[in-house]
Amino acid sequence: MATKTSSITFFFIILTLFITCSATELPQLRHVRRPCKKFTVYLHETRYNGTNLANATSAIVGNPAWGNKTNFATNFGNLFVIDNMLTADNNNKSAPIGRAQGFYVYDINNGVGAWHGFSMVFNNTKYKGTLTLAGENPLLMKTRDISVIGGTGDFFMHWGIATFKTDYINGLLAYRIKINVKLYECWCLLE
Ligand SMILES: *[C@@H]1O[C@H](CO)[C@@H](O)[C@H](O)[C@H]1NC(C)=O
Ligand SMILES: *[C@@H]1O[C@H](CO)[C@@H](O)[C@H](O)[C@H]1NC(C)=O
Ligand SMILES: *[C@@H]1O[C@H](CO)[C@@H](O)[C@H](O)[C@H]1NC(C)=O
Ligand SMILES: *[C@@H]1O[C@H](CO)[C@@H](O)[C@H](O)[C@H]1NC(C)=O
Ligand SMILES: *[C@@H]1O[C@H](CO)[C@@H](O)[C@H](O)[C@H]1NC(C)=O
Repeated sequence: MATKTSSITFFFIILTLFITCSATELPQLRHVRRPCKKFTVYLHETRYNGTNLANATSAIVGNPAWGNKTNFATNFGNLFVIDNMLTADNNNKSAPIGRAQGFYVYDINNGVGAWHGFSMVFNNTKYKGTLTLAGENPLLMKTRDISVIGGTGDFFMHWGIATFKTDYINGLLAYRIKINVKLYECWCLLE
């Protein structure tokens, strides 16, 4: 009897270990997955500075008491709306493949960082649809990962990571970002 009880106890200890083990290892298994889609886009932004309306692709639409709508020097609290061009290569004269439309807000006092919420709206021969990005952009880091939280059209129910790297910068007025998009979840609708 004693042997039977101890072997049952042993069985449950092993079972518990197995369950604990697989529960903690399950999320790691997902990291093995390769992207189902990946591509690079370049984002071009020129901020509205009071005189460049024809060329501006972003503007401060809300500012705190210590700033104004054309002052980029005091960034904390500034809210920008963007309608930026996306191209397949780093040349801002190339044909656009889409737009980045949404906003970002500088959200770190005594530091540099912004929270982005925008969609990449694609309308080209390769992709039609949107990808929505949301997350904190720690601007001083060489590369920044922003979550891709969803998509539509050719990106129906897609999500993944967009890695930002500043590629060109012209003071506080204009910049270009190289964005590597890696999608790890790519659904498609069956008719
Ligand atoms: C605004 O930027 C444009 C370039 O896009 C520049 O020519 C112009 O001098 C700037 N204006 C001010 C007030 O800084
Ligand atoms: C806008 O860009 C064009 C060239 O694309 C340039 O000729 C013009 O001076 C620019 N205007 C401003 C206000 O920066
Ligand atoms: C905004 O701030 C800048 C820098 O302090 C200043 O040069 C500019 O005149 C201000 N513009 C407005 C509309 O207050
Ligand atoms: C295009 O990029 C060049 C630098 O590569 C820059 O001098 C120019 O101002 C940019 N033009 C626009 C409209 O962003
Ligand atoms: C995409 O491009 C086509 C052809 O230029 C145009 O008819 C259509 O309205 C565009 N769609 C969007 C969502 O911009």
